[in-house]
Amino acid sequence: MTTSRESSDLLPAETETALDRAIDSAARHEGLFSLRAANIKQSAVRDVFDISIRPGLVSLAGGSPYLKSLPLEDLGRTAQRIIAEHGLEALQYGGGQGMEELRRLVCDVMAAEGIEGANPEDIVITTGSQSAQDVAAKVFCNPGDVILCEDPTYVGALNTFEAYEVDVVTVPMDENGLIPDELERIIGELQEQGRTIKLLYTIPSFNNPSGITLAADRRQRVVDICRDNTILVLEDNPYGMLRFDGEPLEPMRAHNPDDVIYLGSFSKIFAPGVRLGWALVPKHLYRRFYLACEAVVLCPSPLTQMLVTAYLTDYDWRGHLQAMRSLYRERCDAMLGALAEEFPDGVHWTTPDGGFFVWVTLPEGIDTYPLLYTAIDAGVVFIPGAAFSPSDEPSNKLRLAFSAVSPEDIVEGVRRLAPILRSAIEENRA
Ligand SMILES: Cc1ncc(COP(=O)(O)O)c(C=O)c1O
Repeated sequence: MTTSRESSDLLPAETETALDRAIDSAARHEGLFSLRAANIKQSAVRDVFDISIRPGLVSLAGGSPYLKSLPLEDLGRTAQRIIAEHGLEALQYGGGQGMEELRRLVCDVMAAEGIEGANPEDIVITTGSQSAQDVAAKVFCNPGDVILCEDPTYVGALNTFEAYEVDVVTVPMDENGLIPDELERIIGELQEQGRTIKLLYTIPSFNNPSGITLAADRRQRVVDICRDNTILVLEDNPYGMLRFDGEPLEPMRAHNPDDVIYLGSFSKIFAPGVRLGWALVPKHLYRRFYLACEAVVLCPSPLTQMLVTAYLTDYDWRGHLQAMRSLYRERCDAMLGALAEEFPDGVHWTTPDGGFFVWVTLPEGIDTYPLLYTAIDAGVVFIPGAAFSPSDEPSNKLRLAFSAVSPEDIVEGVRRLAPILRSAIEENRA
């Protein structure tokens, strides 16, 4: 490693002084970090975010929604009207719970998915589902407590839970989602070891990254197992309404108002830039959850709450959602078709019924992380599977996102990736 002293020939004097100062300050302040700060990591998705936007590259990495079909000019006029006519409210601090009208509309959105009769008083508007995950970990978990989650699971949740020094323990899935018998077995083993399990974090519909959905007939059993063991279910459902065909599956919260904290989000059904989601919290848990939300953000943005309220009242959001479901189905079909055409024998993948992702499995013994660099050189980006597991073990999986890329680019991206996988398989055999 080159030290600032060794590099002094190469650097102008003022740069050297700035560098020395930065090194000195870092050394003086290093001891001030909390123990938990060492657990705060950059997500692998963020790692490749800057690379993904390089011109010419096909990004099958980020789980961004398709926004081009939003009525942007109309929304612009709506935003202008909100500020011109209601600016003193829109640009002022608001209530910590979020605006009442939006909380009422959120009840309509949830009813469309099968959660009937929710009370707006049990909802807190959050800065996206991400901040609600943070609040849940903060409110319920002490260092060393256990959160159970699917294997694989959402990288942002893993990063949040680990930042609270929680021990994340995974439960295996099959093609129908979490395996209830495995859940029961793992809970039993942890309890025998004297561990305290606080939450089951689950993405039951179109799991990120696997695209797998928890079967309807397993949902109640999973809640019952958790209830019997005094474990809260943290149900994260940003993709539930993005089922390609048919009706959405009833969320686990639908018939379990006392045992499930339900997290919704406008990021995938409208736009992530509004940074708004919600938590529907059991009444007996609500106060502390809400106070913790308020302690982080004071209040969710009144301006974007008013924009979303207008979107839900003055626009055909249901029609837009329907159009998005068709668009994502078309893209998913393009990806599945290209995988079947291009990928070598020995590679398998999931067939999602909705959401944004396909999960690809290579033969045992291949680590997909180093393949990312070869892929970038070939003009395509994916997320290596290791990002979606709390273990530091290499992974033979990878995530492909089809949501934000045209069918033509999806096919091109898969074409660029296929020879890289073929070489990896050949090397692995040798
Ligand atoms: C499962 C899951 N939860 C939460 C989030 C973050 O959602 P939000 O934008 O509402 O914070 C994502 C984003 O990709 C996600 O996939």
